[in-house]
Amino acid sequence: MQDFREKKRRGERITALTAYDYPTARLLDESGIDLILVGDSLGMVVLGYEDTTQVTLPEMVHHTRAVARGVKRALLVGDLPIHTYNDPAQAVSSARALVEAGAHAVKLEGGASHVAQIEAIISAGIPVMGHIGMLPQSVREEGGYKVKGRTQAEAEALLRDARAIEKAGVFAVVLEIVSPEAAREITGALEIPTIGIGSGSHCDGQILVTHDLIGLFPWFTPKFVSPEARVADEIRKAVQVFIGRTKSGGA
Ligand code: KIV
Repeated sequence: MQDFREKKRRGERITALTAYDYPTARLLDESGIDLILVGDSLGMVVLGYEDTTQVTLPEMVHHTRAVARGVKRALLVGDLPIHTYNDPAQAVSSARALVEAGAHAVKLEGGASHVAQIEAIISAGIPVMGHIGMLPQSVREEGGYKVKGRTQAEAEALLRDARAIEKAGVFAVVLEIVSPEAAREITGALEIPTIGIGSGSHCDGQILVTHDLIGLFPWFTPKFVSPEARVADEIRKAVQVFIGRTKSGGA
């Protein structure tokens, strides 16, 4: 984890992507990614749920185990799903389940309101990555995925949250869909690295949902993503070739 702070000090950008299965994890790891997150975005891009609010701890444990088998060098972070860290004792027990499945650290959503949970997990010897800004586990209350930190009041609240969780001991913090100006201010104010998603270029690192980066979930791509591949199209093409080949009597 110290390595991440040092990367920030040296001005070296941190790279992070999500994985939910063994082959993807192994490909990301072999490609040199710094951090692999078994995100609860699993719910949408792998399990077909509408959002992350239906993801359970057993599902996260199952996928973390698969990912762990493919990771040799990257830092492996497991996401704590909704309602698994409502209080410090529950947070510690859920974090332990992810670590037993192979995660090196856990991530949870929330700022100052979650300092007690963060401190409890860290006291149990498990490193924590923070996550502030747009919180997907609150998407229903929020009424959508909206940019955070556009008003001065919101930007100040985000900075307070960032400082509170840095003090609580998180080793890095994800800034999700935060205005680029607020992200820049938070990044400048913290010693720990900020890892942005849809938050502009001033963060210390960037994270994306791998399915968005490689075009494997073609039914929805967030506005801030520029896909680097069209894997869904390749799958469709290969399947159509196979269907044609089989129907015409081939093997
Ligand atoms: O669940 C997830 O994939 C995440 C990233 C988007 C940061 O939390």
